[in-house]
Amino acid sequence: MIYSGESLSISKADNGVAHLVFDSKSGSVNKFDHLTVAEVTAALDSLEDEAGVTGLIVSSAKGVFIVGADISEFTTLLEEADDKIADHLRLHGDNLRRLEKLDFPVVVAINGFALGGGLEICLACDVRVASDLASVGLPETGLGIIPGWGGTARMPRLVGVQTSLEWITSGRPQKAQLALELGVVDYLVAADELMIKAEAVMADCQSGDLDYKAARARKETTATEIVAEAHRIGDEWTANVASKFGARLPAQGLATQSVLQGLEGSLDEALDIERQCFVNAAKTDQAKALIGNFLSDQYLMKCAKDRAATIAAPATVIGVLGAGIMGGGIAYQSALTGTPAIMKDIAQEGLDLGMGQATKLLSKRVKIGRMTEEKKAAILALITPVLEYDEGFKKVDVLVEAVVENVKVKHAVLTDVESKMDPSGIICSNTSTLPITDLAEPLERPEQFCGMHFFNPVHAMPLVEIIRGAKTSEETINRAVAYALSLKKKPVIVNDCPGFLVNRLLFAYFAGFMQLVYDGADYEVVDKAMEKWGWPMGPAYLADVVGLDTMQHCDDVLGAAYLSRLKKDFKSWYQVVIDMGGLGQKNGNGFYNYSIVDGRPSKVVNDEVKARVAELAKPAKVFTETEIVERLMIPMAIEMAFALEENIVASPQEGDVALLYGVGFPAFRGGVARWMDTIGLKVFCDIADKYTDELGPLYGVTARQREMAVHTETYYDS
Ligand SMILES: NC(=O)c1ccc[n+]([C@@H]2O[C@H](COP(=O)([O-])OP(=O)(O)OC[C@H]3O[C@@H](n4cnc5c(N)ncnc54)[C@H](O)[C@@H]3O)[C@@H](O)[C@H]2O)c1
Repeated sequence: MIYSGESLSISKADNGVAHLVFDSKSGSVNKFDHLTVAEVTAALDSLEDEAGVTGLIVSSAKGVFIVGADISEFTTLLEEADDKIADHLRLHGDNLRRLEKLDFPVVVAINGFALGGGLEICLACDVRVASDLASVGLPETGLGIIPGWGGTARMPRLVGVQTSLEWITSGRPQKAQLALELGVVDYLVAADELMIKAEAVMADCQSGDLDYKAARARKETTATEIVAEAHRIGDEWTANVASKFGARLPAQGLATQSVLQGLEGSLDEALDIERQCFVNAAKTDQAKALIGNFLSDQYLMKCAKDRAATIAAPATVIGVLGAGIMGGGIAYQSALTGTPAIMKDIAQEGLDLGMGQATKLLSKRVKIGRMTEEKKAAILALITPVLEYDEGFKKVDVLVEAVVENVKVKHAVLTDVESKMDPSGIICSNTSTLPITDLAEPLERPEQFCGMHFFNPVHAMPLVEIIRGAKTSEETINRAVAYALSLKKKPVIVNDCPGFLVNRLLFAYFAGFMQLVYDGADYEVVDKAMEKWGWPMGPAYLADVVGLDTMQHCDDVLGAAYLSRLKKDFKSWYQVVIDMGGLGQKNGNGFYNYSIVDGRPSKVVNDEVKARVAELAKPAKVFTETEIVERLMIPMAIEMAFALEENIVASPQEGDVALLYGVGFPAFRGGVARWMDTIGLKVFCDIADKYTDELGPLYGVTARQREMAVHTETYYDS
């Protein structure tokens, strides 16, 4: 043994070939944390001192190769001074430089995920052999940073500029086959032949059949055609990135800059440029937010998995009541992820709708080659549509109720189904507005009842709010969480209140919108400003997509529940449009008109609605983009403060993640609690105060927020 550590070891075989094997003792995957980087340095020291080594094969003993840097170490790293961050990068950067200057060939065997730093070490090796199960990529820009261990410097020298820019700015992991075609890896073999091939390639390098030194030289001196390619496409790419991402995602521009400028000099100069660009990216609010999102997601999923681990057994049969938009979607998702579902409706049309929707979604998969007809049939067979309760309901472990949003109907349906199920089963309601504690009232076993609030469309939206009613047991919550995980969803646990977390926050935002339009703003201008701020769609467009009848219903319920803040003394704009026959996108008519033009969906402002709104609102007034953003975002942010203070949601991390996954909050802003931290609580309170006199309690910050402002506290630790 040449070296043995906690994360890796190097041994030497009889033929003189050394094997560097990554095999973290502390986790299920390999990653480059501080310890591993230090061990790579120490291992290289030992390797360089070892006599008689004729080659090095790098591999992993885990199911993945190396998933990249340890992101959990980033929050403290990014707080450091610029030179400290650069020093940290240089530590491992020097390791990789040493690796490519060894006196013998270095071959890497890539068996699974090689992402970020995982791919960067591969690029520093002379020859890359990949298993057909491997997946490689540089996902850093998705975290608001750029590759910092040579990815932007080595990749273009090896595979050209276009591929490098595409891979680095998209951040997407790519399949091994594509990596082979583009030259990111040199050989592709079946998984069980990987090490045999790596040994054979090593032998070829040693015999001279394979010129590994030429591969090294390609990185040291950039080929003239690659420099020419950079000149040919560089300016246009830079301009495109600036217009597409601009200041929202500076990492994209910095990664592009690093690739292009890096080709103007030596590899060492390129590595210096990359470090500087990394530091610049690392210091942005966007990097903080995106890394924060990643860590919050990990935290959320860990909590969920810990809860799921406490339950005796996963659900084997699901019951769904109501086969409409939501019930159909839940049954589909359940079947798709392998849990059979009995779906009951009172109307055959409902069942037809639910089954039709599932069939349509599966057919789409078949059409794009992601599923076979047989698989589709097998999944559909997992859904049993019924009009009456049958014996099957006795076996249901988790029942999700998704009938019409009416408390009387829900009470009747819930008590009925409770009597039909085995007492061990739990019942969850997919209500969007009705308090869980109230819905539980007539139940025999309220402790076995909770909310499970899915978002529409169920198959596409990752979030599920799991709502704890006053009598819900923790075991019930854990079982609902386990079911949500089995559906491949992100469960956020919240305590009961009208609107739960996401709709409560969203309707505070919409209250800001209602008032702003009443005060004379043009809703089309408001939409554009909010989309520019980062929302996937502005509020008027979003209301149309949700459906104006649904919006009005939620507005009524939440307006009554949070009377002091959400009260308005004018008719809601949803109702105004409904009165004109518009329901939003579903009937092609809302704040906008929707139609299909040349086979594509088209959206144009509805002039009649616009004119009607202008008649009913105060005289038209121009608001700046800043005013528009403040008037919509401050109510949402204050509502988050209330939700945290009332313990509706346990942490800002969970609250922010719920907004990201539930309503598409701009990821690069990290969520609304993160947004308040970015502005600073003092500034936030000052801005909100500016509006309170004129606009009232919707803009009134909480006492706790004022206290936080005084003590310069933040919602996040970092
Ligand atoms: N649509 C959304 O965007 C959305 C999002 C989240 C939550 N929700 C909630 O999900 C629930 C269902 O909403 P939806 O949009 O799917 O409604 P929907 O109108 O599409 O479907 C409701 C279905 O329930 C059936 N139904 C009525 N009474 C029944 C009974 N006694 N037993 C069995 N089935 C019965 C109806 O026939 C209909 O097929 C509501 O509580 C709603 O608030 C809806």
